[in-house]
Amino acid sequence: MSYPYQIKSLEEYHAAWKKSVEDPEKFWGDIAANFQWKKPWERVLDWNFKEPSVKWFEGAQLNITENCIDRHLHDKANQPAIIWEPNNPNDPQRILTYAQLHLKVNQFAHVLKNNGVKKGDRVCIYMGMIPELAIAVLACARIGAIHSVIFGGFSAQSIADRLQDAKSEFIITCDGAFRGPKDIPLKSVIDDALVSCPFVKTVVVYMHTRTPVSMINGRDIWWEDEIRKIEQKGNPDFPAETMDAEDPLFILYTSGSTGKPKGVVHSCAGYMVYTNYTFVNVFQYKPEEIHFCTADIGWITGHSYIVYGPLSAGATSLMFEGIPTFPDAGRFWDIIDKYRVNILYTAPTAIRSLMAFGLGPIQNKDLSSLRVLGTVGEPINEEAWNWYDEHIGKGNCPIVDTWWQTETGGVLISNMAGITPAKASYATLPFPGVQPILVDEKGNEITENNVTGNLCIKAPWPSTIRTTYGDHERCRTNYFATYENLYFTGDGAFRDENGYYRITGRVDDVLNVSGHRIGTAEVENAINMHTGVVESAVVGYPHDVKGQGIYAFVIYNGTHGDEELIRKDITATVSRIIGPIAKPDKIQLVPGLPKTRSGKIMRRILRKIAEGELENIGDTSTLLDPSVVEDIKNGKI
Ligand code: PRX
Repeated sequence: MSYPYQIKSLEEYHAAWKKSVEDPEKFWGDIAANFQWKKPWERVLDWNFKEPSVKWFEGAQLNITENCIDRHLHDKANQPAIIWEPNNPNDPQRILTYAQLHLKVNQFAHVLKNNGVKKGDRVCIYMGMIPELAIAVLACARIGAIHSVIFGGFSAQSIADRLQDAKSEFIITCDGAFRGPKDIPLKSVIDDALVSCPFVKTVVVYMHTRTPVSMINGRDIWWEDEIRKIEQKGNPDFPAETMDAEDPLFILYTSGSTGKPKGVVHSCAGYMVYTNYTFVNVFQYKPEEIHFCTADIGWITGHSYIVYGPLSAGATSLMFEGIPTFPDAGRFWDIIDKYRVNILYTAPTAIRSLMAFGLGPIQNKDLSSLRVLGTVGEPINEEAWNWYDEHIGKGNCPIVDTWWQTETGGVLISNMAGITPAKASYATLPFPGVQPILVDEKGNEITENNVTGNLCIKAPWPSTIRTTYGDHERCRTNYFATYENLYFTGDGAFRDENGYYRITGRVDDVLNVSGHRIGTAEVENAINMHTGVVESAVVGYPHDVKGQGIYAFVIYNGTHGDEELIRKDITATVSRIIGPIAKPDKIQLVPGLPKTRSGKIMRRILRKIAEGELENIGDTSTLLDPSVVEDIKNGKI
């Protein structure tokens, strides 16, 4: 498979970008012609950001799994599609060729169908990072069911919220997942979630960790038992369901600044074309290379750059179950050495945490196979960028700093490895098809360079968010109503004299902790559920490894014992309500919160205190009770 749309020089990049803006229909139509369609499109693009309504390749029919699997069978049947490295290095690795992946996805599509799953049904997937997670995702896509993958670190309550929102009657899980030295009992978490979700009809359980589970009669079934039934029938092929271009492919929940997480919806055709296009161009993928994306499939990065992007390009995708520091901080480097990995795509937080172990874990590891390094999820500081460049890339590997979001489906701003220039801590230039602009608070475009503004996008790209599940108005108000006729990213950005973008971070109440998005309102709601809490306010503060840490200011009513105890209780509550990823790093008990006369919490002041800028708090004269600020400053931890 060659990629005629792979950009090969800076000039080609500029030409492609220009063409994509001047004639997006011709530009994307030409790229889409390289995929397998059951029926061609009638119109490439139809859109308005007012409703919003974004439609790509309307009239076309396809199934994304034919593009990710079937079309590679004639020349790549025996090439590894997925290489799986287990959590424990002494356990056996697994390799699935395209032929084997085809078989397993077909088998599991039959299992879904036999158990009543139909096109358009929502299927929740809550599994560890094992090949069966990718198989489950692809089997849903093959049958036309909408998958909703939930990261294994979320709590029973978070799962229940998502199940209820999507009205998922079907769940795929495993007994447990290994994460470093821990064994996470996933099935047991699902059982807790289902107490408040009686509409769930079926739970398929894959046995992985051999953690004891309770199987509920009439509801829970074993993956292997179901597969055996298909084997007994001789493993018939499962004809891929015919999907319209704009049929939803999946829902992925993500945090916003208000309320509960929202279900971002992506559709089949545009998402396929864009993840493939960006995969091939960002990393400059060459056939047979091994691509190692360290994300979890529970996040958008795993959806787009472990599963759909690489597989649609016929690549070999390496999937890793564990964590970077288990059994030691050399784990990534061992994997790269063992499999001769060519592309490493990871998060700045992982780089920073590994930096802290010094160079010992890298010594005697052969990293010479590496050709491209990538980062995603949060701003990368120059120190981490330089360390990655010098010690991992040995100065020979371009680093791509890829900026994008769950809502954008694929990378929007990034350099292309070795093709367009890199600049430490800059995502640099927009991808073809992407028109970023900076606006001021009033929504006026800022046209000059060397400025900071709110980052918006002017026109749709193929994997633009289509809606938020079950609530289109929420999609409109969140992303398309802040500024007229623009998609608002929620991020701030600086643009330098060359037009390169550096993402400065969120400008809304969303935190980015270790590359994970967490809404401050969500954490506050969880903290406030504790009976000892009167009120709370949560802000972010700079954290050396995580990028941002979570700082909670809490008014305590004194009913739960000493400070140490209540802090522990609050932490446990957040863990139970959202999941361990949202646990506050610091909890300061305060006598009051800085509020305006109208009762609004002045977060600006709390942010300054959390950041340790005690001398530079700013104007407090509009506060109902300015003295509370002194009390909070004095109690800072
Ligand atoms: O603030 C930006 C940050 O992560 C947010 C999106 O988070 P999520 O939807 O979870 O997707 C993460 C993986 C794509 C953005 O609004 N972000 C993502 N990539 C970068 C980044 N910030 C700076 N530089 C990046 N490369």
